[in-house]
Amino acid sequence: MDKFVIRGGNPLVGNIRISGAKNAALPAMAAAILTDEPVILENIPDVRDIQTERNLLVSMGAEVELGYGRASHRTTISCRNLVNPEAAYELVKTMRASTLVLGPLVARMGRAHVSLPGGCAIGARPIDLHIQGLEKLGATITQQHGYIEAAAERLRGGHIAFDKITVTGTEDLMMAAALAEGETVMENCAREPEVADLAALLNKMGAKIEGAGTSTIRIQGVDKLHGARHRIIPDRIEAGTFIIAAALTGGDLNVTNCEPKHLGALLEKLEECGVTVTTNGESVRITNGHRLKAADVSTEEYPGFPTDMQAQYMALATQAEGTSFITENIFENRFMHAHELVRMGASIKVEGSRAVVHGYTPLSGAAVQCSDLRASASLVIAALVAEGETILDRVYHIDRGYERIEEKLRGAGAQIKRIGEMLPKKAPAPVGVA
Ligand code: EPU
Repeated sequence: MDKFVIRGGNPLVGNIRISGAKNAALPAMAAAILTDEPVILENIPDVRDIQTERNLLVSMGAEVELGYGRASHRTTISCRNLVNPEAAYELVKTMRASTLVLGPLVARMGRAHVSLPGGCAIGARPIDLHIQGLEKLGATITQQHGYIEAAAERLRGGHIAFDKITVTGTEDLMMAAALAEGETVMENCAREPEVADLAALLNKMGAKIEGAGTSTIRIQGVDKLHGARHRIIPDRIEAGTFIIAAALTGGDLNVTNCEPKHLGALLEKLEECGVTVTTNGESVRITNGHRLKAADVSTEEYPGFPTDMQAQYMALATQAEGTSFITENIFENRFMHAHELVRMGASIKVEGSRAVVHGYTPLSGAAVQCSDLRASASLVIAALVAEGETILDRVYHIDRGYERIEEKLRGAGAQIKRIGEMLPKKAPAPVGVA
């Protein structure tokens, strides 16, 4: 297991280029199941979750070609010979987004056998809304031995009103409805840019989807979809992570190849904290030369402040003058980073779904542990301003969703290096034993 060793104190200066969005790439790869023609995806991030999804598709019989060298961010997926409509527990337990294959499998193959994901570090995260939606589209669903078995000769259009806004639920059912017979209307949909990006790909494949990116999506089902080429949108959460790191370290950083329009809630909040933000086409420049001011945050579905930025914002709040109230409204257990930040010297009290952060408190380097992807990012950011050395354990969590984060940070002046697990020294052979 790799670790990061980070020495704090350097401001982030220069440029950091943003990769493609993991959370847009994952549903796009699942969409390839819907056609027997190749789907070519560009700007695919080189992160662990993408490898997991490739393995999942290959386990079903898909041919997944990886680009090399300059084309390393391109993947071509051909689902011509799908034989095994199954997502096994071994894969689903390492990545919940594997459940995105449920809708496409039933739509294309008439059957899906997908493991239930179970809870995870940030909450219970059921998939009941995916299941109810598929039933509305005419699928028969049974549950046995920890697996969902879904079947339908041909899905038919229906009316789905989500009780709760769900990102992958909206995506899963949009893919299923694309091949259903007749019209589907989905209400109270997630409005995340990743949903709109998936709809753009599906429409290139011949689907008839309107309204993605708003809360009502209308889908006219078609009999068949074809291959397409699509470029994945930039990762707004990766961009936001570096933006916060720059603000916190008092740097001057250009975050390039991103989409500033997708970062609205975060950038507004940072301006409230006193950070200077300049957007220009596909880049955001962050400069900050003075002490930050506290500002409250309450996570919401897009276009609100993203839950995926809450942990990183908490690291920033520890260095802001005053008290920040941070409320997490999407997941019930997404404050694991708070306890590690406290070990580094932060003053944070968690009260149910709210964390009260008193700043400014100096941070000092410590041995800390990653608990999930965004919590890990929060600890990396905190370590960049901590006095002394921080050793971050279990960085495989961060590798799931950030492409070579240590190289990108080092390129902007941070002192961070990756080390492999040191094996304990072999005990010397006992002397004098026969
Ligand atoms: N929910 C249900 N039933 C369902 C589905 C969701 O009760 O059937 C609840 C969840 O438990 C949660 C809320 O609805 O309380 C929202 O969950 P959602 O379904 O929107 O989350 P998700 O689709 O599983 C995606 C991202 C997450 C991100 C959330 C919220 C992907 C692959 N994952 O998850 O990303 O936090 O939306 O924006 O798109 C991450 O990248 O670190 C990450 C966790």
